[in-house]
Amino acid sequence: MPTTSLPRGVAIIGAGMSKFGAFPEKNSRDLFVEAYKDLLASVEKGFDPRQIESFYLGNFSSDLFEHQAHMAPLLADAVGLTPIPAARVENACASGATALRQGVMAIASGMADAVLVGGAEKMTNLPTADVTDTLAAAADMAFEISAGFTFPGFYAAIATAYMAKYGMKPEHLMNVALKNHENGALNPNAQFGVTIQKWMEGRVAAALKKGKPAPTWQTVMDFLHDDSANPMVAWPLRLFDCSPITDGASALLLVPADRAKDYTDTPIYITGSGQASDSALHDRADLTALPAAQRAAAQAYQMAGVTARDIRIAEVHDCFTIAEVVATEDLGFFAPGEGYRAAEDGVTARDGAKPINTSGGLKSKGHPVGASGVAQAVEVFKQMRGQAGARQVSGDVPLALTHNVGATGSTCLVHIYERKD
Ligand code: COA
Repeated sequence: MPTTSLPRGVAIIGAGMSKFGAFPEKNSRDLFVEAYKDLLASVEKGFDPRQIESFYLGNFSSDLFEHQAHMAPLLADAVGLTPIPAARVENACASGATALRQGVMAIASGMADAVLVGGAEKMTNLPTADVTDTLAAAADMAFEISAGFTFPGFYAAIATAYMAKYGMKPEHLMNVALKNHENGALNPNAQFGVTIQKWMEGRVAAALKKGKPAPTWQTVMDFLHDDSANPMVAWPLRLFDCSPITDGASALLLVPADRAKDYTDTPIYITGSGQASDSALHDRADLTALPAAQRAAAQAYQMAGVTARDIRIAEVHDCFTIAEVVATEDLGFFAPGEGYRAAEDGVTARDGAKPINTSGGLKSKGHPVGASGVAQAVEVFKQMRGQAGARQVSGDVPLALTHNVGATGSTCLVHIYERKD
């Protein structure tokens, strides 16, 4: 395990994202241009893009989603950066954080003094069945997909094992969805920027408008238990336990730490980066934790010289509600078997002791897979600088963490961010 800190400090001086959602009229290029413009506007002392020396793009499968491979130079060209080197990085749903780690290594090693890190995915061109097939390519085709697994199915297996081991009930997972929709409702870039309460009220209003009998839900839990409103996808996971299918892009600008204040008074430093890999899920003895996440977290904490207790907020990979529960345990925020109570007890709420997924997470903000890892860093950048608007957590955010998972944990990355005033 690496024990050293980064050979040269790395800072984020700008961060941006497109709106996440379903945009039939836009392709990855359009979305990335939006994210890039948002990034440049965030560098308050200004930045001449001609200083950017290389570009790493997180993208899972533009080949299958858009029939367009070789996306990095196209996007570099779209934002006027050719002829700098541009490379696409693919690591399933962890493509974004893997691109970020390449950027960190380029700056830390002295290879570059300004790096653009991006993420982009355009998923909604395809019908759901084809999206499911495309995502399945991130799993083990020979031993898992051929046996009938899909991603909701994998995470359902994880949830089932977790329930059997720790006594969690499906209702506990609903608390994660409720919490993340509360946060997403305050995020103007979220795909589902609405609380589940409002969603339910909208359904009642729509039924009445059509002259149909009004549903009889009294509470959000009634709504979430109703098979017609919240259908089962893969037991015990229902629709509201799943992240959606999303189009979106995100971007970060990295420079050496000692130059960051030329561009902003509030750079955010990346002080820890960890990455690990693992066998596919079918080859693991225990489904209730992701060893690659634990290992990546240990590396990142060690590099940054901090512990789980020190982290003020975290964006974790909640592709399904159970994934957030397991993540918060793998990261050491809660003991094994305790994570599921955190949303119920309000610990992971925006005003709780350990706010998780203040952006709305993948569940509510959306999950354009290659863009998600970079968008997590965009959220902590905003929160740490006090620029997260209505969803800003109270008090200082000196330390934050992002956790990005590829497939069911065959890849995992953890990054740690510090604000030094
Ligand atoms: N959560 C809540 N509501 C959702 C939703 C989600 N994840 N996905 C879709 N909806 C809503 C839509 O807004 C729509 O609502 P409306 O009828 O009020 O307009 C309704 O459900 C139907 O939408 P549709 O797009 O037809 O849903 P779908 O059945 O085709 O897809 C899933 C739903 C859950 C199957 C799909 O979102 C999915 O596959 N998610 C997982 C993606 C994934 O695996 N990512 C990688 C993780 S590793």
